[in-house]
Amino acid sequence: MPDNARSVIADDIAAMEMLLCRTLTNADTFVDEVIRYSLQVGGKRLRPMLLFLAGKTVGTIAEQHILAAASIELVHTATLIHDDILDGASVRRHLATFNVRWNAQIGVLAGDFLLTKALELIAQTDSLFAVRQLTAACKQTCEGELLQIGSAGGFEISFDDYLRIIGGKTAPLLACSAEIGAFFADADVSVTEKFRLFGQKIGLAFQIIDDVLDLVGKTDTAGKTLRTDLIHHKPTLPLILYLRDASEHERNDMLVRIRRDDFDGQTADEIVAHLTSAGSIAAARKTAQQLADEADELLAGIPGNAAAKQALSDMTRFVVSRQM
Ligand code: IPE
Ligand code: IPE
Ligand code: MG
Ligand code: MG
Repeated sequence: MPDNARSVIADDIAAMEMLLCRTLTNADTFVDEVIRYSLQVGGKRLRPMLLFLAGKTVGTIAEQHILAAASIELVHTATLIHDDILDGASVRRHLATFNVRWNAQIGVLAGDFLLTKALELIAQTDSLFAVRQLTAACKQTCEGELLQIGSAGGFEISFDDYLRIIGGKTAPLLACSAEIGAFFADADVSVTEKFRLFGQKIGLAFQIIDDVLDLVGKTDTAGKTLRTDLIHHKPTLPLILYLRDASEHERNDMLVRIRRDDFDGQTADEIVAHLTSAGSIAAARKTAQQLADEADELLAGIPGNAAAKQALSDMTRFVVSRQM
């Protein structure tokens, strides 16, 4: 994450971290260990950063921002714990996933616990708007994950189908982060709406790059299990573009490789090499770049604090250039 972006809101992030620590303690030793495990290594805190920077662009940061940022980060962490169960992943944020450290049952319950804590925190903002927006985003996230499971194996889905999946499972939480940040800084409805769209576009770009990194990234840098999309036959943008543009022979050859019973690391390497040489990885990156550019344009049209706006603009660049 760009350091200058973080420095603009360092105190706010620190306040959120303290709130998360206070929130995630439990009198029972075992429950305490399980729920605090998710905080041992922090993630990038992208959603809280968006929320605080949107707030700072148009006004000042209030206690409600801290509560909402912590709440959204808890929702996000819960979705990752559940996502790792769905994807059979073994590493997350450089640690063993809940399903490996304990088991899927504990992962399901820990995720539910964090989600409930998140609802408790957002309710403390006393804002029906924030509660509504976050609840809608949670529902869309689940719908997106369900759409993705429903499309597993359907490699010839269209670009629009793919956008519906990532526009459900990832973008709404980023959209509501930016929107709620502006809302609690008393922004006009039109500005709040612009921030929602900004977060939506950043969210789509972010997930496209995540899907690219799932293929070409390094586990050590990413700190999470990669190649799970291929293994679970989840069609993502590079593959969708490849299959759309390939000849019939190339398409059939690719599908045979993916569906091999003895699918292993070498098969995955071969598939990635094909996607790379056909330009499908670059084409997916380009799509993400276009969305990030659109986000930047939206941002340019919002008046406000120059340092916070610059930090948001740096984040749009980070989203497409990141390696983790
Ligand atoms: C990972 O999100 C899941 C996606 C939506 C792609 P992040 O990359 O923001 O995860 P952390 O919080 O930094 O670990
Ligand atoms: C992200 O999907 C999960 C949600 C948005 C809920 P992925 O499965 O692509 O995320 P990673 O790659 O495991 O972090
Ligand atoms: Mg996953
Ligand atoms: Mg992924």
